[in-house]
Amino acid sequence: MDRGNNSRVTEFVLHSLSGSRELQLFYFAFFTFFYLSIVLGNLLIALTVLSAPALHTPMYFLLSNLSVTDVCLSTFATPKMIVDFLLEHKTISFEGCMAQIFFLHVFAGGEMMLLVAMAYDRYVAICRPLHYAAIMSVRKCTGLVLGCWLIGVLHSLSQLAFTVNLPFCGPNKVDSFFCDLPLVIKLACTDTYVLEILMLSDSGLMALSSFVLLLISYTVILVTVRSRASAGMAKARATLTAHVTVVTLFFGPCIFIYAWPFSNFPVDKVLSIFYTVFTPLLNPLIYTLRNKEVISAMKELWRRQISS
Ligand SMILES: *[C@@H]1O[C@H](CO)[C@@H](O)[C@H](O)[C@H]1NC(C)=O
Repeated sequence: MDRGNNSRVTEFVLHSLSGSRELQLFYFAFFTFFYLSIVLGNLLIALTVLSAPALHTPMYFLLSNLSVTDVCLSTFATPKMIVDFLLEHKTISFEGCMAQIFFLHVFAGGEMMLLVAMAYDRYVAICRPLHYAAIMSVRKCTGLVLGCWLIGVLHSLSQLAFTVNLPFCGPNKVDSFFCDLPLVIKLACTDTYVLEILMLSDSGLMALSSFVLLLISYTVILVTVRSRASAGMAKARATLTAHVTVVTLFFGPCIFIYAWPFSNFPVDKVLSIFYTVFTPLLNPLIYTLRNKEVISAMKELWRRQISS
């Protein structure tokens, strides 16, 4: 990329959560703890699923792929944010900023699609149990996972295509702890109205439509579960309610930030912590660690480690 023109911005200044020196140290410890929990918890889940042949089914493959995506989603910006709490000047290069935008959209897009794929998997399992084996094979599941990543990458490239070439000529303060697209395009020295429409019709629409799709599939599943009274169904209902909570916590902030682009609320940077930190932390807790099969596979893995 040739950006020889001197008036071009070469680095951006990030504003993380503000506060006193002590507060910054507190944030440092708080987020370090969360980040390590996310990485360890999610990697443990992926390792467990891969090492237990009993868990080699589409549902668990999707879950462990979600765990890996969670690790990626919390790694593209959070470690830098954590280190930045200790620094006076929080800056990021132009290339670094574009890389953050790229990875955020790849991982968040992939995560959204995986959540949709997981809801579809549960829909087939609960609403059409007799056809489950025919509809969801491991091969189909691999296709679904590849499809999720492909959509994530294409979506991200489509956002980046117009962002890298924007004229950034002066203002370079990004009001967040990482380069989030709506905040970065606001800095471009051009009419950002068109850009925001483009973003709205890409990221905003993608988040909104997957969210609506998820709500519809969960509603259909809940209605089906409701009409069958049994202990197993009561448990399924509790699980589904938990899923809807996580999904809302992930999509709510995304939709708020990306589908209302014309206003810049001070809460935006706090909300972006939801999709980079809190969702990756909650996913393993809600989707997997309440699951008896996963827990017993973990114990098995642990026993084998001890005995070898
Ligand atoms: C992701 O899903 C694919 C397809 O089912 C599976 O083969 C792969 O092992 C999974 N990856 C992880 C890390 O779980």
